[in-house]
Amino acid sequence: MSEPLDPPTGLWSDDARWAASTIGFPVLLLDAQRRVHLANPAAQALAGKLDLEPAAGAESLVALVSDAQWESALRDGYWKGVVRPDPEHPLALEIHCGQSPDTPHCLMVLVDISARDERQRQYAELQRTVERLATTQEQLLRSEKMASIGQLAAGVAHEINNPIGYVGSNLGTLQEYSAALLALVEKYHEALFSEDPAARRQEIMQARQQLDIDYILGDLPNLLKESREGIERVTKIVQDLKDFSRVGRDQKMQPADLLQGLDSTLNIVWNDLKYKVRLEKHYSSLPLVECLASEINQVFLNLLLNASQAIEQRGTIVLASGCDDKEVWISISDTGCGIPPEVMPHLFDPFFTTKPIGRGTGLGLAISYSIVAKHHGRIEVTSTVGQGSTFRVVLPIRQPQDATQEAAKLPSDVE
Ligand SMILES: Nc1ncnc2c1ncn2[C@@H]1O[C@H](COP(=O)(O)OP(=O)(O)OP(=O)(O)O)[C@@H](O)[C@H]1O
Ligand SMILES: [Mg+2]
Repeated sequence: MSEPLDPPTGLWSDDARWAASTIGFPVLLLDAQRRVHLANPAAQALAGKLDLEPAAGAESLVALVSDAQWESALRDGYWKGVVRPDPEHPLALEIHCGQSPDTPHCLMVLVDISARDERQRQYAELQRTVERLATTQEQLLRSEKMASIGQLAAGVAHEINNPIGYVGSNLGTLQEYSAALLALVEKYHEALFSEDPAARRQEIMQARQQLDIDYILGDLPNLLKESREGIERVTKIVQDLKDFSRVGRDQKMQPADLLQGLDSTLNIVWNDLKYKVRLEKHYSSLPLVECLASEINQVFLNLLLNASQAIEQRGTIVLASGCDDKEVWISISDTGCGIPPEVMPHLFDPFFTTKPIGRGTGLGLAISYSIVAKHHGRIEVTSTVGQGSTFRVVLPIRQPQDATQEAAKLPSDVE
């Protein structure tokens, strides 16, 4: 079944026959009478696999071609089509016929479409996996954002609660003060309309003393000033929170003031930091940077929290910035525990954390990395164990063309 039946000499050179026999896909060498001169091993295997007439062997593959198809191949020198539409095992083939009209010889190449379908199926499966991964990443981003929002909420609640607490208590005191002042005004009023106002002077002086008016007059401006500051602080925190989450709405990269973003973010985590951290700022002014400000703020938040968490007792966080004509950088340095060299390669791996369960999810840096990469920037890390670490975010001032539109499609655009 494998070797050609009585091969006519001179039709196919030994080289051509050798080449056909070594090719990995099914190939038949034929003459114009459809006699098989060679069926390579792949063709023989296919004939067996298709469960065609076993005795016919490779000839059974030739029998798949109808007379009309065969004539068309001889006439045009080429024919290609599906010869076996069987859904279980479809088969296509190509026939190439030699140039010489006297001794036409044909090369029949079979294409097992079922294998192609299998590859298509694998491709579709791969695509579905990629889509599932994108959805999972989106969910992760959302949960990371939720986690950091949860972390923030505690700090922000405290930050707001504090001024609201003393503004509330000041209002209570102011209520007492205004009652005393109104009582005194009432005394003045009575005296003014009495027959002898001067005679009431002593009484008024006494009331003034009893009501502690001198103290009230001294304290009142302080209370009002403090209350006003409290309200301003709350307004500022609310504004910072808005800045922090802002812009995320339309997800278009826009020129943004990164130092203002850093300060806003710092403000809302300050409650976590203030008891153990001394802060130094070495800002040099930056141009506006084309970015998704809310996402870059998320990066700052992660880096600030990491820096604070690296400091056990007391330490310093230094914020610095700089730029050249193409890039800006912002660095967050801490005098915390530092990062051992063996940990360095894993820093940006999702779920890599050295923190106790419940403290870290190990997503902060992974998310930050993908946000910065989306902005065509990078995060550089230097660290010495026992001395501290510096995370430097480097961003291009302008995004490459089209990046602004691309950004809107990427899965990290999670509100
Ligand atoms: N400033 C830093 N100093 C020392 N180690 C750091 C610092 N920043 C990150 N690391 C190390 O890198 C690990 C990964 O950081 P990452 O922010 O990704 O996760 P996490 O802080 O552990 O958890 P999450 O941020 O999700 O709450 C940390 O667990 C810590 O070991
Ligand atoms: Mg972290």
